[in-house]
Amino acid sequence: MNELDSLVASARELFAQAGTPVDLENAKAQFLGKAGKMTALMKGMAQLTVEEKKTRGAAINVAKQAIEAALNDRRQALLDAQLQQQLQAERLDVTLPGRQRGQGGLHPVSLTLERIEGIFASMGFEVAEGPEIESDWFNFTALNTPEDHPARSMHDTFYVEGGTPQAPNLLRTHTSPMQVRHAVQHVKRYRHQLDAGQGMPEIRVIAPGRTYRVDSDATHSPMFHQCEGLWIGENVSFKDLKVVFTDFCKTFFESDDLVLRFRPSFFPFTEPSAEVDIQFQSGPLAGKWLEVAGSGQVHPNVVRNMGLDPERFIGFAFGMGPDRLTMLRYGVNDLRLFFDGDIRFLSQFNK
Ligand code: PHE
Repeated sequence: MNELDSLVASARELFAQAGTPVDLENAKAQFLGKAGKMTALMKGMAQLTVEEKKTRGAAINVAKQAIEAALNDRRQALLDAQLQQQLQAERLDVTLPGRQRGQGGLHPVSLTLERIEGIFASMGFEVAEGPEIESDWFNFTALNTPEDHPARSMHDTFYVEGGTPQAPNLLRTHTSPMQVRHAVQHVKRYRHQLDAGQGMPEIRVIAPGRTYRVDSDATHSPMFHQCEGLWIGENVSFKDLKVVFTDFCKTFFESDDLVLRFRPSFFPFTEPSAEVDIQFQSGPLAGKWLEVAGSGQVHPNVVRNMGLDPERFIGFAFGMGPDRLTMLRYGVNDLRLFFDGDIRFLSQFNK
């Protein structure tokens, strides 16, 4: 192999070894650059005769063209490789399904509350909301609860900052404080009519919301829900309570096959008082009495705290447990499932 052939061969070899465009440009400089080997050969021709220059020049040119061709081939090969790599890295499968935003849904207890509100709205009840941090007055005193009543103890009630020892603040233990809160507002609106010896529109309201007690097991959560109901007028009787609550239960459970029992009980703010039990006649719970609410005729002292004359105004109240209703409706056996926030459990209610 003559000198030029071996130069071309070594150029090819070096180009082949160059793994990147930068390596290749460096390799090129060794042959074709200003200080490169080919350039040196050209310069070396200065001493040759004209005849010698011709043949030598032609041979050098052939070698130079071979090196340039090898260079271009290698350049192209590197560009192709780079493109392939990029295509591989940025590859996307346009046949994949698009990413969807997860669909949220309502909590089962919220579904129950919506249901309760809808049913009572159809019976002419307003929906009111009240504060969860409540005063001792509205939660207990205004509801005729004696100073030494056990429900007031720290054992059952969460007391919070912001009150005074005489008038502490607490997390409401039931939604019953809404009876007096709402009635006072209602009476205020119609005070002038009442003072003029006229009547006022009946109070017909439900008040759903969160309530709190120091209690925790499979059927009790420190935070739970209640829905209060109140109906006050000049001619509202216990019979109305029975009709309204029976209608409600049948509509809520979508069943006429349901029996209610008003079992005598005691609450400081109602007299007489009754626990409401329901019994399904068919299905998995058939035959069992299930307690769903406390109720009663509003106590005269409470009517007085509403700003009304108990000789003239009378009515009833009830307080039910939407958590319990949700468990019964869907057949859930542990109350805590509602408040653990496990999406696998919760998503079942939004199908
Ligand atoms: N507040 C009572 C409770 O939490 C329920 C109730 C409400 C009873 C209204 C009578 C009237 O147990």
